[in-house]
Amino acid sequence: MDQSRRAFVGQVAGVSASAGLAGLAGVNSAALAAPAADVGSGHAADDEAYWRWVAGEFLTAPNVGHMNTGTRGVSPRSVVQAQFNAIRSYDSDYLSHATYACNAEFRAGLRAKLAAFIGCKPNEVALTNNTTEGMAFGTLGIDYRPGDEIIHTNHDHASGVQPINLCAARYGIMPVVVDLKGDEFHPPKSADAIVAAFEKVMTKRTRLVSFCHINYTDGCVLPVREICALARERGILTLVDGAHPPGMMKLNIAELGCDMYAGAGHKWLLASMLTGFFHIREDVQDRIWPLVYSGPVAGRNMFGRSVAGSAKAEQAATAARYEMRGSVDFAALAAFDAALDFHIGLTPTAIEARDRYMAAQVIKGLRAIDGVRVHVSDDPALSCGLVSFHIDGVEPKTVNQRLWERHRLYIRDVFHPEIDWNVNRASLHIMVHGGHVETLLGGVQEIAREARI
Ligand SMILES: Cc1ncc(COP(=O)(O)O)c(C=O)c1O
Repeated sequence: MDQSRRAFVGQVAGVSASAGLAGLAGVNSAALAAPAADVGSGHAADDEAYWRWVAGEFLTAPNVGHMNTGTRGVSPRSVVQAQFNAIRSYDSDYLSHATYACNAEFRAGLRAKLAAFIGCKPNEVALTNNTTEGMAFGTLGIDYRPGDEIIHTNHDHASGVQPINLCAARYGIMPVVVDLKGDEFHPPKSADAIVAAFEKVMTKRTRLVSFCHINYTDGCVLPVREICALARERGILTLVDGAHPPGMMKLNIAELGCDMYAGAGHKWLLASMLTGFFHIREDVQDRIWPLVYSGPVAGRNMFGRSVAGSAKAEQAATAARYEMRGSVDFAALAAFDAALDFHIGLTPTAIEARDRYMAAQVIKGLRAIDGVRVHVSDDPALSCGLVSFHIDGVEPKTVNQRLWERHRLYIRDVFHPEIDWNVNRASLHIMVHGGHVETLLGGVQEIAREARI
Protein backbone atom coordinates (compact mmCIF):
# COMPACT_ATOMS: atom_id res chain seq x y z
CA MET A 1 0.00 0.00 0.00
CA ASP A 2 1.53 3.38 -0.92
CA GLN A 3 1.84 6.23 1.56
CA SER A 4 -1.16 8.26 0.44
CA ARG A 5 -3.44 5.22 0.48
CA ARG A 6 -2.11 4.25 3.90
CA ALA A 7 -2.76 7.78 5.19
CA PHE A 8 -6.29 7.71 3.86
CA VAL A 9 -7.05 4.39 5.45
CA GLY A 10 -5.96 5.99 8.69
CA GLN A 11 -8.29 8.93 8.21
CA VAL A 12 -11.35 7.06 7.10
CA ALA A 13 -11.26 3.72 8.74
CA GLY A 14 -8.75 3.99 11.54
CA VAL A 15 -11.34 5.19 14.00
CA SER A 16 -12.36 2.74 16.63
CA ALA A 17 -15.71 2.44 18.30
CA SER A 18 -15.51 4.33 21.54
CA ALA A 19 -17.76 3.63 24.45
CA GLY A 20 -19.11 7.18 24.25
CA LEU A 21 -19.86 7.09 20.57
CA ALA A 22 -21.47 3.69 20.67
CA GLY A 23 -23.77 5.13 23.31
CA LEU A 24 -25.09 7.87 21.02
CA ALA A 25 -28.73 7.40 20.08
CA GLY A 26 -29.19 5.66 16.75
CA VAL A 27 -25.50 4.95 16.20
CA ASN A 28 -24.74 1.54 14.78
CA SER A 29 -21.87 0.44 17.00
CA ALA A 30 -21.16 -2.66 14.94
CA ALA A 31 -20.50 -0.43 11.94
CA LEU A 32 -18.15 1.72 14.00
CA ALA A 33 -16.11 -1.31 14.91
CA ALA A 34 -15.73 -2.53 11.32
CA PRO A 35 -12.17 -3.33 10.26
CA ALA A 36 -10.08 -0.93 8.21
CA ALA A 37 -10.09 -1.39 4.47
CA ASP A 38 -8.14 0.20 1.71
CA VAL A 39 -10.29 2.64 -0.24
CA GLY A 40 -7.69 4.36 -2.38
CA SER A 41 -9.15 6.39 -5.23
CA GLY A 42 -10.19 6.30 -8.84
CA HIS A 43 -12.56 3.33 -8.60
CA ALA A 44 -14.99 3.00 -11.47
CA ALA A 45 -18.52 4.25 -10.91
CA ASP A 46 -19.94 0.75 -11.45
CA ASP A 47 -17.52 -1.01 -9.11
CA GLU A 48 -20.39 -2.08 -6.87
CA ALA A 49 -18.28 -4.00 -4.37
CA TYR A 50 -16.08 -0.99 -3.77
CA TRP A 51 -18.96 1.47 -3.44
CA ARG A 52 -20.81 -0.90 -1.13
CA TRP A 53 -17.76 -0.78 1.08
CA VAL A 54 -17.89 3.02 0.99
CA ALA A 55 -21.62 2.94 1.83
CA GLY A 56 -20.66 0.74 4.78
CA GLU A 57 -18.62 3.64 6.18
CA PHE A 58 -21.90 5.35 7.08
CA LEU A 59 -23.82 4.73 10.27
CA THR A 60 -27.15 4.42 8.49
CA ALA A 61 -29.14 1.56 10.00
CA PRO A 62 -28.82 -1.54 7.78
CA ASN A 63 -32.53 -1.54 6.89
CA VAL A 64 -32.64 2.17 5.94
CA GLY A 65 -31.90 3.67 2.53
CA HIS A 66 -30.95 7.35 2.90
CA MET A 67 -31.89 9.02 -0.39
CA ASN A 68 -32.36 12.54 0.90
CA THR A 69 -28.87 13.99 1.07
CA GLY A 70 -30.41 17.07 -0.56
CA THR A 71 -31.88 17.86 2.84
CA ARG A 72 -29.19 16.38 5.06
CA GLY A 73 -26.28 14.18 4.19
CA VAL A 74 -25.59 11.74 6.97
CA SER A 75 -21.92 11.60 7.99
CA PRO A 76 -19.47 8.72 7.65
CA ARG A 77 -17.98 7.35 10.83
CA SER A 78 -14.67 9.25 10.53
CA VAL A 79 -16.65 12.50 10.61
CA VAL A 80 -18.87 11.44 13.51
CA GLN A 81 -15.76 10.32 15.37
CA ALA A 82 -13.93 13.62 14.74
CA GLN A 83 -16.96 15.55 15.95
CA PHE A 84 -17.29 13.39 19.03
CA ASN A 85 -13.56 13.65 19.77
CA ALA A 86 -13.77 17.44 19.62
CA ILE A 87 -16.71 17.52 22.01
CA ARG A 88 -14.87 15.24 24.42
CA SER A 89 -11.70 17.29 24.08
CA TYR A 90 -13.23 20.68 24.83
CA ASP A 91 -15.51 19.37 27.53
CA SER A 92 -12.58 17.76 29.34
CA ASP A 93 -10.11 20.66 28.94
CA TYR A 94 -11.59 23.63 27.16
CA LEU A 95 -8.58 25.93 27.43
CA SER A 96 -6.11 23.43 25.99
CA HIS A 97 -8.55 22.49 23.23
CA ALA A 98 -9.01 26.13 22.23
CA THR A 99 -5.26 26.80 22.52
CA TYR A 100 -3.85 23.78 20.75
CA ALA A 101 -6.64 22.22 18.69
CA CYS A 102 -9.32 24.59 17.48
CA ASN A 103 -7.12 27.70 17.22
CA ALA A 104 -6.48 30.30 14.53
CA GLU A 105 -4.02 28.02 12.71
CA PHE A 106 -6.56 25.21 12.56
CA ARG A 107 -9.17 27.54 11.13
CA ALA A 108 -6.74 29.00 8.60
CA GLY A 109 -5.75 25.45 7.61
CA LEU A 110 -9.40 24.44 7.26
CA ARG A 111 -10.10 27.49 5.13
CA ALA A 112 -7.12 26.66 2.91
CA LYS A 113 -8.18 23.02 2.56
CA LEU A 114 -11.73 24.08 1.73
CA ALA A 115 -10.50 26.70 -0.75
CA ALA A 116 -8.44 24.07 -2.59
CA PHE A 117 -11.45 21.74 -2.57
CA ILE A 118 -13.87 24.27 -4.08
CA GLY A 119 -11.35 26.00 -6.36
CA CYS A 120 -10.78 29.47 -4.94
CA LYS A 121 -8.12 31.33 -2.95
CA PRO A 122 -8.00 30.89 0.85
CA ASN A 123 -8.66 34.62 1.34
CA GLU A 124 -11.90 34.28 -0.66
CA VAL A 125 -13.77 31.96 1.68
CA ALA A 126 -15.42 32.19 5.10
CA LEU A 127 -16.68 29.30 7.20
CA THR A 128 -20.39 29.74 7.88
CA ASN A 129 -23.16 27.73 9.51
CA ASN A 130 -25.07 26.94 6.33
CA THR A 131 -26.00 28.09 2.83
CA THR A 132 -28.69 30.44 4.08
CA GLU A 133 -26.17 32.66 5.86
CA GLY A 134 -24.08 33.06 2.70
CA MET A 135 -27.12 33.93 0.60
CA ALA A 136 -28.13 36.58 3.14
CA PHE A 137 -24.56 37.95 3.41
CA GLY A 138 -24.28 38.24 -0.37
CA THR A 139 -27.64 39.85 -1.05
CA LEU A 140 -27.90 42.12 1.97
CA GLY A 141 -24.25 43.23 1.88
CA ILE A 142 -24.66 45.33 -1.30
CA ASP A 143 -25.50 49.08 -1.35
CA TYR A 144 -28.73 49.58 -3.30
CA ARG A 145 -30.66 52.50 -4.68
CA PRO A 146 -34.45 52.44 -5.12
CA GLY A 147 -35.29 51.04 -8.54
CA ASP A 148 -32.26 48.73 -8.67
CA GLU A 149 -33.16 45.24 -9.84
CA ILE A 150 -32.20 41.81 -8.54
CA ILE A 151 -32.76 38.83 -10.77
CA HIS A 152 -33.67 35.41 -9.38
CA THR A 153 -35.58 32.37 -10.67
CA ASN A 154 -38.90 30.88 -9.68
CA HIS A 155 -37.12 27.64 -8.72
CA ASP A 156 -34.96 29.36 -6.09
CA HIS A 157 -35.02 28.38 -2.44
CA ALA A 158 -36.45 30.71 0.21
CA SER A 159 -32.85 31.20 1.44
CA GLY A 160 -32.07 33.04 -1.79
CA VAL A 161 -35.42 34.72 -2.39
CA GLN A 162 -36.24 36.13 1.04
CA PRO A 163 -33.16 38.36 1.37
CA ILE A 164 -34.18 39.81 -2.02
CA ASN A 165 -37.71 40.42 -0.77
CA LEU A 166 -36.22 42.08 2.31
CA CYS A 167 -34.19 44.41 0.07
CA ALA A 168 -37.38 45.23 -1.81
CA ALA A 169 -39.12 46.16 1.43
CA ARG A 170 -36.13 48.03 2.85
CA TYR A 171 -34.49 49.75 -0.13
CA GLY A 172 -37.16 49.72 -2.80
CA ILE A 173 -35.28 47.39 -5.15
CA MET A 174 -37.29 45.44 -7.73
CA PRO A 175 -37.14 41.63 -7.79
CA VAL A 176 -37.16 40.35 -11.38
CA VAL A 177 -38.05 36.70 -11.89
CA VAL A 178 -36.59 34.38 -14.54
CA ASP A 179 -39.42 32.04 -15.41
CA LEU A 180 -38.19 28.42 -15.45
CA LYS A 181 -41.60 26.93 -14.77
CA GLY A 182 -42.59 25.76 -18.24
CA ASP A 183 -42.56 22.23 -19.64
CA GLU A 184 -39.71 23.24 -21.95
CA PHE A 185 -37.51 23.23 -18.83
CA HIS A 186 -38.72 19.83 -17.55
CA PRO A 187 -36.51 18.39 -18.68
CA PRO A 188 -34.75 21.34 -20.32
CA LYS A 189 -33.93 20.93 -24.00
CA SER A 190 -30.63 22.78 -23.71
CA ALA A 191 -28.54 25.05 -21.53
CA ASP A 192 -28.95 27.79 -24.14
CA ALA A 193 -32.65 28.19 -23.37
CA ILE A 194 -31.84 28.76 -19.72
CA VAL A 195 -29.10 31.27 -20.51
CA ALA A 196 -31.45 33.10 -22.87
CA ALA A 197 -34.12 33.31 -20.15
CA PHE A 198 -31.60 35.06 -17.88
CA GLU A 199 -30.25 37.34 -20.60
CA LYS A 200 -33.76 38.50 -21.51
CA VAL A 201 -34.31 40.08 -18.08
CA MET A 202 -30.90 41.72 -17.53
CA THR A 203 -31.17 45.51 -17.76
CA LYS A 204 -29.09 48.59 -16.95
CA ARG A 205 -30.72 48.58 -13.52
CA THR A 206 -29.74 45.00 -12.65
CA ARG A 207 -27.35 44.98 -9.66
CA LEU A 208 -27.33 41.30 -8.78
CA VAL A 209 -28.21 37.95 -10.34
CA SER A 210 -28.92 35.35 -7.66
CA PHE A 211 -29.67 31.76 -8.64
CA CYS A 212 -29.07 28.11 -7.81
CA HIS A 213 -26.18 26.10 -9.23
CA ILE A 214 -28.51 23.10 -8.87
CA ASN A 215 -32.23 23.68 -8.34
CA TYR A 216 -33.52 21.93 -5.24
CA THR A 217 -36.91 21.60 -6.93
CA ASP A 218 -36.11 19.67 -10.10
CA GLY A 219 -32.37 18.83 -9.85
CA CYS A 220 -31.50 20.91 -12.91
CA VAL A 221 -27.84 22.00 -13.09
CA LEU A 222 -27.83 25.57 -14.35
CA PRO A 223 -25.20 26.88 -16.81
CA VAL A 224 -23.48 28.99 -14.15
CA ARG A 225 -20.43 29.91 -16.17
CA GLU A 226 -22.45 31.28 -19.10
CA ILE A 227 -24.89 33.20 -16.90
CA CYS A 228 -22.05 34.72 -14.88
CA ALA A 229 -20.15 35.70 -18.03
CA LEU A 230 -23.21 37.59 -19.31
CA ALA A 231 -23.59 39.35 -15.97
CA ARG A 232 -19.92 40.24 -15.73
CA GLU A 233 -19.93 41.79 -19.22
CA ARG A 234 -22.64 44.11 -17.93
CA GLY A 235 -20.98 44.90 -14.58
CA ILE A 236 -23.63 42.93 -12.66
CA LEU A 237 -22.70 40.98 -9.51
CA THR A 238 -23.54 37.27 -9.27
CA LEU A 239 -24.45 35.19 -6.22
CA VAL A 240 -24.81 31.43 -6.62
CA ASP A 241 -26.79 29.26 -4.23
CA GLY A 242 -24.52 26.22 -3.98
CA ALA A 243 -26.41 24.24 -1.35
CA HIS A 244 -26.08 21.05 -3.42
CA PRO A 245 -22.97 20.85 -5.62
CA PRO A 246 -20.16 20.79 -3.00
CA GLY A 247 -19.45 17.12 -2.35
CA MET A 248 -21.68 15.99 -5.24
CA MET A 249 -19.70 17.56 -8.09
CA LYS A 250 -16.06 18.43 -8.46
CA LEU A 251 -16.13 22.18 -7.98
CA ASN A 252 -13.98 24.94 -9.40
CA ILE A 253 -15.54 28.21 -8.36
CA ALA A 254 -12.86 30.30 -10.07
CA GLU A 255 -13.75 28.66 -13.38
CA LEU A 256 -17.45 29.26 -12.84
CA GLY A 257 -16.67 32.98 -12.78
CA CYS A 258 -19.24 33.94 -10.14
CA ASP A 259 -18.64 36.76 -7.66
CA MET A 260 -20.15 34.97 -4.67
CA TYR A 261 -21.04 31.37 -3.90
CA ALA A 262 -22.80 30.07 -0.77
CA GLY A 263 -22.41 26.37 0.05
CA ALA A 264 -23.46 23.79 2.62
CA GLY A 265 -21.24 21.36 4.51
CA HIS A 266 -24.07 19.34 6.01
CA LYS A 267 -25.53 18.06 2.73
CA TRP A 268 -23.42 16.39 0.02
CA LEU A 269 -20.16 17.23 1.80
CA LEU A 270 -21.30 14.92 4.63
CA ALA A 271 -20.09 17.12 7.49
CA SER A 272 -22.19 17.83 10.56
CA MET A 273 -25.03 20.32 10.91
CA LEU A 274 -23.90 23.96 11.23
CA THR A 275 -21.23 23.78 8.55
CA GLY A 276 -21.11 25.79 5.35
CA PHE A 277 -19.11 28.40 3.49
CA PHE A 278 -19.39 31.75 1.77
CA HIS A 279 -17.08 32.57 -1.10
CA ILE A 280 -16.48 36.18 -2.25
CA ARG A 281 -14.12 36.83 -5.12
CA GLU A 282 -11.14 38.90 -4.03
CA ASP A 283 -11.81 41.87 -6.28
CA VAL A 284 -15.44 42.38 -5.22
CA GLN A 285 -14.88 42.06 -1.47
CA ASP A 286 -14.93 45.82 -0.97
CA ARG A 287 -18.41 45.97 -2.55
CA ILE A 288 -20.02 43.57 -0.06
CA TRP A 289 -20.55 44.97 3.45
CA PRO A 290 -20.14 42.51 6.30
CA LEU A 291 -23.41 42.17 8.20
CA VAL A 292 -22.18 40.62 11.44
CA TYR A 293 -18.77 41.42 12.88
CA SER A 294 -17.75 40.87 16.47
CA GLY A 295 -13.97 41.32 16.17
CA PRO A 296 -11.70 43.93 17.89
CA VAL A 297 -13.03 47.32 19.04
CA ALA A 298 -10.38 49.61 20.50
CA GLY A 299 -7.73 47.83 18.38
CA ARG A 300 -10.23 48.94 15.70
CA ASN A 301 -11.88 47.57 12.60
CA MET A 302 -14.79 47.48 11.35
CA PHE A 303 -13.50 49.43 9.30
CA GLY A 304 -11.41 51.64 11.57
CA ARG A 305 -8.65 49.20 10.38
CA SER A 306 -5.36 48.78 12.37
CA VAL A 307 -5.51 45.59 14.64
CA ALA A 308 -1.80 45.43 13.80
CA GLY A 309 -0.42 42.11 12.67
CA SER A 310 -2.91 39.82 14.44
CA ALA A 311 -4.75 36.88 12.92
CA LYS A 312 -7.94 38.85 13.54
CA ALA A 313 -6.61 41.77 11.49
CA GLU A 314 -5.90 39.42 8.64
CA GLN A 315 -9.32 37.86 8.94
CA ALA A 316 -11.04 41.23 8.93
CA ALA A 317 -9.29 42.11 5.67
CA THR A 318 -10.51 39.03 3.77
CA ALA A 319 -13.69 37.05 3.22
CA ALA A 320 -13.07 35.50 6.65
CA ARG A 321 -14.46 38.69 8.20
CA TYR A 322 -17.77 36.84 8.00
CA GLU A 323 -16.50 34.34 10.55
CA MET A 324 -16.30 36.84 13.41
CA ARG A 325 -19.86 36.43 14.51
CA GLY A 326 -19.64 35.21 18.07
CA SER A 327 -18.98 31.76 19.50
CA VAL A 328 -18.58 28.89 17.08
CA ASP A 329 -19.24 25.17 17.28
CA PHE A 330 -15.74 23.65 17.48
CA ALA A 331 -17.04 20.15 16.99
CA ALA A 332 -18.75 21.19 13.75
CA LEU A 333 -15.46 22.60 12.46
CA ALA A 334 -13.68 19.35 13.33
CA ALA A 335 -16.41 17.46 11.48
CA PHE A 336 -16.06 19.78 8.48
CA ASP A 337 -12.31 19.14 8.37
CA ALA A 338 -12.79 15.36 8.59
CA ALA A 339 -15.49 15.46 5.89
CA LEU A 340 -13.13 17.23 3.50
CA ASP A 341 -10.50 14.56 4.20
CA PHE A 342 -13.07 11.85 3.49
CA HIS A 343 -13.90 13.39 0.10
CA ILE A 344 -10.28 14.06 -0.79
CA GLY A 345 -9.45 10.44 0.01
CA LEU A 346 -12.21 9.02 -2.18
CA THR A 347 -11.57 11.79 -4.71
CA PRO A 348 -14.26 14.22 -5.88
CA THR A 349 -13.92 12.88 -9.42
CA ALA A 350 -14.76 9.31 -8.40
CA ILE A 351 -17.63 10.47 -6.14
CA GLU A 352 -19.18 12.61 -8.87
CA ALA A 353 -18.91 9.74 -11.35
CA ARG A 354 -20.60 7.36 -8.87
CA ASP A 355 -23.44 9.81 -8.11
CA ARG A 356 -23.99 10.37 -11.82
CA TYR A 357 -23.92 6.65 -12.52
CA MET A 358 -26.61 5.93 -9.91
CA ALA A 359 -28.72 8.91 -11.00
CA ALA A 360 -28.56 7.67 -14.61
CA GLN A 361 -29.77 4.22 -13.47
CA VAL A 362 -32.65 5.81 -11.59
CA ILE A 363 -33.64 8.07 -14.50
CA LYS A 364 -33.57 5.16 -16.93
CA GLY A 365 -35.50 2.89 -14.58
CA LEU A 366 -38.16 5.51 -13.79
CA ARG A 367 -38.68 6.38 -17.45
CA ALA A 368 -39.45 2.74 -18.15
CA ILE A 369 -42.34 2.72 -15.63
CA ASP A 370 -45.86 3.49 -16.92
CA GLY A 371 -47.32 6.59 -15.32
CA VAL A 372 -44.03 8.04 -14.12
CA ARG A 373 -42.68 11.33 -15.41
CA VAL A 374 -39.06 12.34 -14.90
CA HIS A 375 -38.43 16.09 -14.74
CA VAL A 376 -34.66 16.16 -14.83
CA SER A 377 -32.56 15.81 -17.97
CA ASP A 378 -30.17 12.93 -18.59
CA ASP A 379 -27.72 15.35 -20.21
CA PRO A 380 -24.71 15.45 -17.82
CA ALA A 381 -24.42 19.19 -18.40
CA LEU A 382 -27.91 19.69 -16.99
CA SER A 383 -28.14 17.14 -14.18
CA CYS A 384 -26.12 15.30 -11.59
CA GLY A 385 -27.17 13.52 -8.36
CA LEU A 386 -30.71 14.85 -7.79
CA VAL A 387 -33.57 13.14 -9.64
CA SER A 388 -37.06 14.67 -9.64
CA PHE A 389 -40.10 12.70 -10.78
CA HIS A 390 -43.81 12.34 -10.41
CA ILE A 391 -46.18 9.37 -10.35
CA ASP A 392 -49.44 10.25 -12.11
CA GLY A 393 -52.38 10.30 -9.73
CA VAL A 394 -50.36 9.89 -6.51
CA GLU A 395 -49.55 12.76 -4.15
CA PRO A 396 -45.76 13.01 -3.72
CA LYS A 397 -46.21 12.92 0.07
CA THR A 398 -48.03 9.60 -0.28
CA VAL A 399 -45.18 8.24 -2.41
CA ASN A 400 -42.70 9.14 0.35
CA GLN A 401 -44.86 7.58 2.98
CA ARG A 402 -45.29 4.32 1.09
CA LEU A 403 -41.59 4.02 0.25
CA TRP A 404 -40.77 4.54 3.90
CA GLU A 405 -43.42 2.25 5.35
CA ARG A 406 -42.84 -0.55 2.86
CA HIS A 407 -39.10 -0.30 2.21
CA ARG A 408 -37.55 2.08 4.80
CA LEU A 409 -36.43 4.21 1.86
CA TYR A 410 -36.16 7.91 2.64
CA ILE A 411 -36.73 10.31 -0.28
CA ARG A 412 -38.60 13.63 -0.16
CA ASP A 413 -41.36 15.57 -1.82
CA VAL A 414 -40.65 19.11 -2.96
CA PHE A 415 -43.65 21.41 -2.74
CA HIS A 416 -42.94 24.85 -4.19
CA PRO A 417 -46.37 26.50 -4.23
CA GLU A 418 -45.31 29.72 -5.98
CA ILE A 419 -45.21 27.75 -9.25
CA ASP A 420 -47.44 24.82 -8.29
CA TRP A 421 -44.46 22.50 -8.20
CA ASN A 422 -45.07 19.29 -6.29
CA VAL A 423 -42.81 16.34 -7.08
CA ASN A 424 -40.71 13.61 -5.53
CA ARG A 425 -36.95 13.90 -5.37
CA ALA A 426 -34.30 11.24 -4.78
CA SER A 427 -30.70 12.09 -3.84
CA LEU A 428 -28.09 9.67 -5.16
CA HIS A 429 -24.98 9.91 -3.06
CA ILE A 430 -22.40 7.50 -1.74
CA MET A 431 -24.32 6.16 1.26
CA VAL A 432 -26.69 4.70 -1.35
CA HIS A 433 -25.80 1.47 -3.15
CA GLY A 434 -27.18 -0.56 -6.03
CA GLY A 435 -29.58 -2.44 -3.73
CA HIS A 436 -31.23 0.83 -2.69
CA VAL A 437 -31.58 1.86 -6.33
CA GLU A 438 -33.31 -1.43 -7.14
CA THR A 439 -35.60 -1.07 -4.14
CA LEU A 440 -36.53 2.47 -5.18
CA LEU A 441 -37.39 1.43 -8.72
CA GLY A 442 -39.36 -1.61 -7.52
CA GLY A 443 -41.21 0.50 -4.93
CA VAL A 444 -42.13 3.20 -7.46
CA GLN A 445 -43.27 0.58 -9.95
CA GLU A 446 -45.57 -0.94 -7.34
CA ILE A 447 -47.07 2.46 -6.39
CA ALA A 448 -47.55 3.41 -10.06
CA ARG A 449 -49.28 0.06 -10.72
CA GLU A 450 -51.64 0.56 -7.76
CA ALA A 451 -52.51 4.03 -9.09
CA ARG A 452 -53.57 2.55 -12.43
CA ILE A 453 -55.99 -0.01 -10.93
C1 LIG B 1 -31.19 25.26 -3.07
C2 LIG B 1 -31.13 25.41 -1.58
N1 LIG B 1 -30.69 26.56 -1.06
C3 LIG B 1 -30.59 26.76 0.26
C4 LIG B 1 -30.95 25.79 1.15
C5 LIG B 1 -30.79 26.02 2.60
O1 LIG B 1 -29.63 25.37 2.98
P1 LIG B 1 -28.99 25.47 4.41
O2 LIG B 1 -29.77 24.56 5.29
O3 LIG B 1 -27.58 25.03 4.20
O4 LIG B 1 -29.07 26.88 4.86
C6 LIG B 1 -31.43 24.56 0.67
C7 LIG B 1 -31.82 23.51 1.61
O5 LIG B 1 -32.22 22.44 1.28
C8 LIG B 1 -31.52 24.38 -0.72
O6 LIG B 1 -31.96 23.22 -1.24
